[in-house]
Amino acid sequence: MTDTKPSSFQNGSKAKAPILRALAGLPNDKPPFWFMRQAGRYLPEYRKLRKQARDFLDLCYTPELATEVTLQPLRRYPIDAAILFADILLVPDGLGQEVAFEEGRGPVLNPVTNVSGIDALSLDGLHEKMAPVYETVRRVRGSLAGDKVLIGFAGAPWTVATYMVEGGTSKDHLAVRRWAFGDPEGFNRLIELLIEATSQYLIRQIEAGVQVVQIFDTWAGALAEPGFRRWSMEPTARIVETVKAAHPEVPIIGFPRGAGSLYRDYIDATGVDGVSIDSAVSVSWAAANLQPRALVQGNLDPAALAEGGGKLLEEAGRIVAGLDQGRFIFNLGHGIVPSTPPEHVDQLCRFLDG
Ligand code: CP3
Repeated sequence: MTDTKPSSFQNGSKAKAPILRALAGLPNDKPPFWFMRQAGRYLPEYRKLRKQARDFLDLCYTPELATEVTLQPLRRYPIDAAILFADILLVPDGLGQEVAFEEGRGPVLNPVTNVSGIDALSLDGLHEKMAPVYETVRRVRGSLAGDKVLIGFAGAPWTVATYMVEGGTSKDHLAVRRWAFGDPEGFNRLIELLIEATSQYLIRQIEAGVQVVQIFDTWAGALAEPGFRRWSMEPTARIVETVKAAHPEVPIIGFPRGAGSLYRDYIDATGVDGVSIDSAVSVSWAAANLQPRALVQGNLDPAALAEGGGKLLEEAGRIVAGLDQGRFIFNLGHGIVPSTPPEHVDQLCRFLDG
């Protein structure tokens, strides 16, 4: 073929998927949608299946169970995408750090606090450890209809580093921010390792069958502007460059949560095809400043979904009205919270599908 159109235009079945159309800048009759954390504890069928696994990591590393959990929300709702069931903390696990998910406590890691801690980690076992994840990708992709897409993902180096250094979820990220200020060269070795691991991991996910990838930088908003440019934008740009060199046709969505007005520079500096915006970003500002540069995904407050009713529809309507004139995928500003009644997700789907 001699033309230069992206390959999603050349493949008839791919071009039909509304999410790929949106990311290619093509119009849709209605906004395509999926929800961050669409698989998870708010679903009774998830809670049931979760008991069959020893723990959360075991669930992620058992293709039979992870495939089923990935597909659960699609059996209930007319959503346009499946997101691989895994976690951003599989990468530190694959690099050899001790990672555990404790009931009611969240992730617990043996913290990396200095350069010798980084030296104890290695890329050598990563793909062997991630083999069950790639197998889940193959299985899910094999059972998805042509109009649905499978989204793969990884954490951005900064966000993954926060967990690796703090030893879990932290309120203030003080240890990792101090390291980044106090010993930027040492800290950069951790970031470099994560750039390499994340690029390879995403490339393997694509080769196993994911059609879009999302890079979650959940704690990007903890950084001041120079740090945001250095530790969020630069590493993400490197990952985008490496993944695109191998697979230029696969769209990449970035989620630098809390980036505020720096979302615009993030798009320009990283070369992502889309950005997921948190609920604090103004819809009119995003339409004027972000949509000319990239697709925008977002940005319903997960609390509105948990609450349901008229306020949910009012909020969803406001977002659709403000963003559906441009490149747009409807989503939340962050993940579905466990207290969300599944019927409220039904209500939202009926509104978006209507
Ligand atoms: O449906 C999906 O979104 C796909 C799967 C997915 C999970 N985690 C499953 C999960 C995805 C995309 C993630 C990403 C993730 N993991 C992020 C980035 C997005 C975000 O939410 O900000 C982060 C920061 C993590 C790290 C993580 N994983 C934490 C802090 C926790 C504990 C807190 C919590 O929400 O439970 C997890 C556990 C986790 N990851 C669960 C699920 C469904 C709950 C596990 C359980 O069953 O107890």
